Amino acid sequence: MDFYEVIRTRRSVRKFKADDMPEEVLKRVLDAARIAQSGSNRQPWRYIIIRDKARMKEMLPVCGDQSFVAEAPVLIVACGTNLNFNRGGYMGDFSMLVDVSISFDHLTLAARAEGLGTCWIGSFNNDGVKKYLEIPNDVQVVALTPLGYPADSGAFSENTNRKSLEEIVCYEKYE
Ligand SMILES: Cc1cc2nc3c(=O)[nH]c(=O)nc-3n(C[C@H](O)[C@H](O)[C@H](O)COP(=O)(O)O)c2cc1C
Repeated sequence: MDFYEVIRTRRSVRKFKADDMPEEVLKRVLDAARIAQSGSNRQPWRYIIIRDKARMKEMLPVCGDQSFVAEAPVLIVACGTNLNFNRGGYMGDFSMLVDVSISFDHLTLAARAEGLGTCWIGSFNNDGVKKYLEIPNDVQVVALTPLGYPADSGAFSENTNRKSLEEIVCYEKYE
């Protein structure tokens, strides 16, 4: 699939078929996350793959009670290790969030290219998810996503609800 078609038609999917995906497809999607760029090539990410339905459902209260989070065959939790290192920017420890987000976006786009739906879940309780999945203190949860084939045939329709280029781009100085 053409790269620009992938990014135009990646949409948040919140209804899934029960059908599981072949293992090699899941591997390709995870590999897209693996090869992402990161500051100083630190690769501070780690992905937890959850297939146990009971576990998914029990996690709903720490995922904003968004029921679709437990409806796909796979739930992916993206974690990041605190860097304790300021690369010279103002972000300090928070630069981990940038790295993991880049990797996670690779994952969502690769999923789209495979015909799989994702929905970036940012509304979750970090401490709650950490406790539930036995995530160490110096590791944070950055995002979650269900992963599965969309239930609706129009799930990958292009999102036209975006600001125009004129609204987001200026030249030579901030305007
Ligand atoms: C950082 C981030 C956090 C998000 N958190 C949630 C969430 O908790 N629940 C949800 O249903 N969608 C969530 N979304 C999805 C956005 O609502 C969605 O990407 C946006 O409305 C644009 O729609 P589209 O993804 O279909 O193009 C999140 C997206 C991002 C990037």
